[in-house]
Amino acid sequence: MPWTTPGTRKSSKLFTRGAGATPANVAFPSAPLPYPDGWFCVGFGHEIDAGGILTRRLTGEDVVLARGASGVLRALRPHCPHLGAHLGVMGTVYGEEIVCGFHRFAFDLDGPCLRTSYGQPPPRATLDTLPVRETGGLVLVWRSRDGSPPTWEPPTIASAGRQIPRGKTYEVACHPQQTTENVVDFGHLEHLHRATLARTPNVSFEGRVCSGDFEVTRTLPRLGQVSAKYTFRVYGLGLTVLDCDLSTGVAARFFALSTPVDPWLTHFRVAATATVEPIGKLPTALAKPVSAVAARLVRDVFYVVHATGSAMDLPVWHYQKYQRAPRLAPGDGPIGRYRKWAEQFYSAPPVDRIDVGPDRRGERLREGR
Ligand code: FES
Ligand SMILES: [Fe+2]
Repeated sequence: MPWTTPGTRKSSKLFTRGAGATPANVAFPSAPLPYPDGWFCVGFGHEIDAGGILTRRLTGEDVVLARGASGVLRALRPHCPHLGAHLGVMGTVYGEEIVCGFHRFAFDLDGPCLRTSYGQPPPRATLDTLPVRETGGLVLVWRSRDGSPPTWEPPTIASAGRQIPRGKTYEVACHPQQTTENVVDFGHLEHLHRATLARTPNVSFEGRVCSGDFEVTRTLPRLGQVSAKYTFRVYGLGLTVLDCDLSTGVAARFFALSTPVDPWLTHFRVAATATVEPIGKLPTALAKPVSAVAARLVRDVFYVVHATGSAMDLPVWHYQKYQRAPRLAPGDGPIGRYRKWAEQFYSAPPVDRIDVGPDRRGERLREGR
């Protein structure tokens, strides 16, 4: 298994605090949770221009992203149906087609083989495509255990007037259920992130979405004590959106994106965007560029603060044992309710869905308050 995928960071010192410790994917070689189904981020839209090709990994397989001249983005399974060349390596996009460089068979980006280089009728061959969506600057690909089509849609995330997401990707020995659980693990905010909750957060679990809001105070270098109110929405186990209204007309957003790439190996992306409404007093010709510069500045500061905070979780996840029956205590967040909600994203029964009996379940997954 490759340790670090190109474009991802194992991180410099973030994981070395546990020097001598064994990463979780080595310590627990049979993954205690299977891959979840759902929408997972494989990159940002701005990473792939018209005519571009990019290979990313999702649940043990490569996914080839190809963008046609019209801007349409397609996600393809990687191997050419002719003799199996990797299209992420050998493919070239022309207009709305992809041509495999091994024998120059041309395929419509929607799949069908259009022609060969032999001047003969093309074979009845089709590229395998995967459902892909672009929203909020993210590229999301649908994954299900049996290859069945999406049973739900990702949210439409408005990106008009926002800066493109600034982000980075870490490769961590963990599972998306753990990284996403972090959102409702309010007990660690004070101790790991040095952020004090102003009140008990609101959390609800409805259908595919877990949402809520909370307010924290933290001390930042040079800025001193800062309070911020957040709303969060979690869509499945791959996509968490955290919104913060900083002041009138100034809004920032943070994404935490967990993508299972191999058993117990996750690409964890963090990214931020922001928007600043044009200042009415300025002449129109000036207002837009000034608000764009301001939005970039807000995005970058918001990104640095929150990416630094998120990075504190990395050494936890990288060495963490997945506790099937955690001994929860009063003061923990709604971990038990979260795990119950998360069960819907497995079309294979998770190994941890153990029958502990109706009266013992509450005891073993009791939520603290
Ligand atoms: S392997 Fe792709 S055209 Fe032959
Ligand atoms: Fe955290």
